Amino acid sequence: MLEVNPEKRTQIEEKVQDLLSRMTLEEKIGQTRQCGPSLVGAFGMSFEEALNMMMDGKLSKAEFDKMIESAEMDLKEDDIRAGRIGSFNGVTGAERIHHIQQIAVEESRLGIPLLIGCDVIHGHRTITPIPLAESGAFEPSLWERTARMSAKEAAADGIKWTFAPMVDVSKDARWGRISEGAGEDVLMNSCYGEAKVRGYQTQDPSAPDAIAACVKHFAAYGGAEGGRDYNRVELSEQRLREDYLPSYEVAVKAGALTVMPAFNTISGVPCSCNSYLLTAILRGEWGFEGMTISDANAIAELVAHGAAADRKDAARLAMNAGMDMDMTSECYIEEMKELIESGAVSMAALDRAVSDVLRVKFELGLFENPYYMDEQDPETAFLKPEYRTIAREAADKSIVLLKNDPFGDRDAAAPVLPLSRDLHLCICGKLAAQRDEMPGTWAVNAKGNDCVSIVDACESQKVNYTFLETASADELSAHAAECDVFVAVIGEPREWSGEASSRSDLKISADQLDMVRRLLDTGKPVVAVLFNGRPIELTFLKENVPAIVEAWHLGVEAGNAVLDILFGDVNPSAKLTASFPYNAGTCPCYYDHPNTGRPGGRAKFTSKYFDAPLEPVYTFGHGLSYTTYEYSDLTAEVCPGNVPGDAAPGIDVQITVKNTGSRAGDEVVLCFFRDPVAERVRPVRKLAGFEKVSLEPGQSKTVRFHITRRQLGYFNSRMNFVVDPGEIDIYAGGSLESCLEASVRI
Ligand code: NOJ
Repeated sequence: MLEVNPEKRTQIEEKVQDLLSRMTLEEKIGQTRQCGPSLVGAFGMSFEEALNMMMDGKLSKAEFDKMIESAEMDLKEDDIRAGRIGSFNGVTGAERIHHIQQIAVEESRLGIPLLIGCDVIHGHRTITPIPLAESGAFEPSLWERTARMSAKEAAADGIKWTFAPMVDVSKDARWGRISEGAGEDVLMNSCYGEAKVRGYQTQDPSAPDAIAACVKHFAAYGGAEGGRDYNRVELSEQRLREDYLPSYEVAVKAGALTVMPAFNTISGVPCSCNSYLLTAILRGEWGFEGMTISDANAIAELVAHGAAADRKDAARLAMNAGMDMDMTSECYIEEMKELIESGAVSMAALDRAVSDVLRVKFELGLFENPYYMDEQDPETAFLKPEYRTIAREAADKSIVLLKNDPFGDRDAAAPVLPLSRDLHLCICGKLAAQRDEMPGTWAVNAKGNDCVSIVDACESQKVNYTFLETASADELSAHAAECDVFVAVIGEPREWSGEASSRSDLKISADQLDMVRRLLDTGKPVVAVLFNGRPIELTFLKENVPAIVEAWHLGVEAGNAVLDILFGDVNPSAKLTASFPYNAGTCPCYYDHPNTGRPGGRAKFTSKYFDAPLEPVYTFGHGLSYTTYEYSDLTAEVCPGNVPGDAAPGIDVQITVKNTGSRAGDEVVLCFFRDPVAERVRPVRKLAGFEKVSLEPGQSKTVRFHITRRQLGYFNSRMNFVVDPGEIDIYAGGSLESCLEASVRI
């Protein structure tokens, strides 16, 4: 939690009000406007038109890129000078940013600095694993350190605000943006978001190397119907508050300075004009005093939604609901003056928005130090050796060992992994050499050549290997004999996950699976290494390939990290934070579902699909190690509640874990509970806590969890928060399937 110094707060408030009192209406509206740079010069059409032409295949990607390169950026300098812009998104390069900031500070009437934002989602230049991968490390201090590192790089490049963390719970693998968050569980997203806010902002957001966080997408964007991006979200009020809102609340209460409402509707009302969310809950219930910014063009999109009659109406609705800044739709700058003059928006509403923007600028220290780290050459601030070390650690800790069976004679043989460095590896599949693919989605400032591919890592580590891009029958007949083990590097291209990348099936492409079949036909061991941004369909691999390594999109150190795991220099420790469904038809597929009256089973009239198993192929919390762990001594006891003055109890849980293998390892211990009888039926399991422990061979540790009253309770049908007296079942251990069980009465 960010400690707020009340004296500093009062001083800032005075400065905000003083500045506000000196602003013209036009200057006020200017502060609520965020611009993106538009491109001019090289072509006679708008950027959007060019983009659409490329999407429709009328322009090749190469032609499009060439146009963009030769275009000039229109930085709207006259508007900056006139105080008609408060913020930019998408302007990069320290020099360019310095230039526009200088205009704002030195040439505009009031000298109000610009707030420069950018999507620094999982690294600025030192790209770390996508959030879905990194969440699998179950390590808040790592999440914080990677955020700290990206803040330092971004700040050195003139950026003072990131549109992260995304804390959208996502239970549907079809949704491409599942890659950008911490998976299907709300506690995971809460802990992940909290750590990221700390890392970006630090205790002092005005420090030169701190940047503002933006908690997004408020709210429940991950609940899109059918997993289709931007689609409607229909939730009961109870489910919204139990399964979705807590992660935003935790990140807001960690001190996040800004919040981005989501594109979607919730129960019919677009989040961008949802006063219940933006005013009643965010500001009223949670006490948020920062600034809200719409998602890109989202205010204008209120018209397409069917919520606003026209752009003016959209601006009115958004402002009156509590949206402070307009990201690039231009509705505020074009319409707000008339809305104020006609009284459709009150001056008080606009003043609130402008005060929120100014307050954030003061909190970030922009008035005192508008140019941040400018004295430093940004290039020397990127990809420092110590940053690469953190990126490699994060990548090592994000790789999930999904399967590791013995190969050949099952009684005698050892598991396939780790591999001995003496073996001759045959690395197959083009993803093994594609540096550009390693960053994954939302790595806007990534450079492919900063990334180490698997082939690069094999070269630099002098691995005995052969690389076959497609492992065609001819290539295999020429090379198979000399190889001891095949490593099939397959998955999804990076473009297939992230925004606007929903899929209606989750299969690995047929050509890649055909390649795996050819490798299996050689009779030699095959290890599958997966690069993907979401859970994908793995039935074939699980049934046929002895070892599966989930490497996600790992960032700049991808290749080195994969070799760390393959050769056992690092013992895998990550676990899944999103379940891998049997196929797309069984989505959404997640562990914390309630039972039906007819839980899926063998009998016909039960809740299931008759043509696909209900159970995920790999479930939340699954992940193997090269050592083994044994759990014992689970106890659960009622303890005093954690709410002052409230006698309702919480539960203390403890369990002992022992490393029973011959290698040191890090084990993620998970604790779940279930309220088996409740007025509103509760999930069959609910994550209550997690902790990662390091264990030498033979070493034991006792891990403690505290389940709070807030976690145990729920909203009943009258929207009262209740904790039912009665039995609570407790489950703790290394995976959902292997938990020890206890029960306790509260
Ligand atoms: C759209 C995305 O939904 C959001 O996450 C992102 O931060 C903005 N565009 C800005 O690029």
